[in-house]
Amino acid sequence: NQGVAPVTYGEGERPPRGDYARARADYTCEQDWAAYTPAQHDLYRRLYERQAAQLPGLACQEFIEAVAHLGAPDRIPRFDELSERLMRATGWQVVAVPGLIPEEAFFKLLSERRFPVTEWIREPEEFDYVVEPDVFHDLFGHVPLLFNPVFADYMQAYGAGGLKASRLDACELLARLYWYTVEFGLIATPEGLRAYGAGILSSAGELRHSVTSPEPKRVGFELERIMRTRYKIDSYQTTYFVIDSFDQLFEATAPDFTPIYARVRQLPTLEAGELLPGEAIRAV
Ligand code: PHE
Ligand code: FE
Repeated sequence: NQGVAPVTYGEGERPPRGDYARARADYTCEQDWAAYTPAQHDLYRRLYERQAAQLPGLACQEFIEAVAHLGAPDRIPRFDELSERLMRATGWQVVAVPGLIPEEAFFKLLSERRFPVTEWIREPEEFDYVVEPDVFHDLFGHVPLLFNPVFADYMQAYGAGGLKASRLDACELLARLYWYTVEFGLIATPEGLRAYGAGILSSAGELRHSVTSPEPKRVGFELERIMRTRYKIDSYQTTYFVIDSFDQLFEATAPDFTPIYARVRQLPTLEAGELLPGEAIRAV
């Protein structure tokens, strides 16, 4: 059962990057570790070093402590070795995928506590910015917090919730929750605002911007507010949502979303960066 169709893409759009011929029906593949070149390991090392140097004072403590679990910073990790450590910590595994995969396949893997990590690494010219997620974004950005028990449970619940949202035609609403938490979430800590979202933590420029710039709006986490809010995919976010703890995030998303989707559909959609009347924004 090797070889699957790549994710569908619109007319005039580029097909997703990656070798889909080697993928299984669930879109996972073997990580061809031997195929990485010394230059690719070195690119990973340089990406890792640049990001690791920025973490103190900007990333949340849970993330900083868990980054070491990724293993030696000077080469692309072997996913099977990383999975052993992750399995012992929270029962999660990382599995290789050729690149972007269809929504339902993604949700199913998360619901099984298997986190899909893109096999390929960006080109050197993409050192500062890569359009599609690569192995550095997926590993460095997402995997550390899978070592945190509460966040690990949140990710599984999200996967199960995604399968349900597919049946309810509510994936667009749910995707906004992923975007504003898993990818671009901020957390308030006693030491100040910190980042926990993978899109921020793997970004050269947005990490400092999201935590310290006076420009973007920072709004307290509110589930329905997030589900109503569009997001930017090609620039820094204009609004970030701030949680107080991973427990808050887990508990606020535990209720059945079926009636919540119905309610949110009745409310006007908000543009990225738009504020509601009287809405409090947090100062940095
Ligand atoms: N509670 C959500 C539902 O019933 C599932 C979910 C949990 C979604 C956590 C996202 C995050 O649909
Ligand atoms: Fe991501």
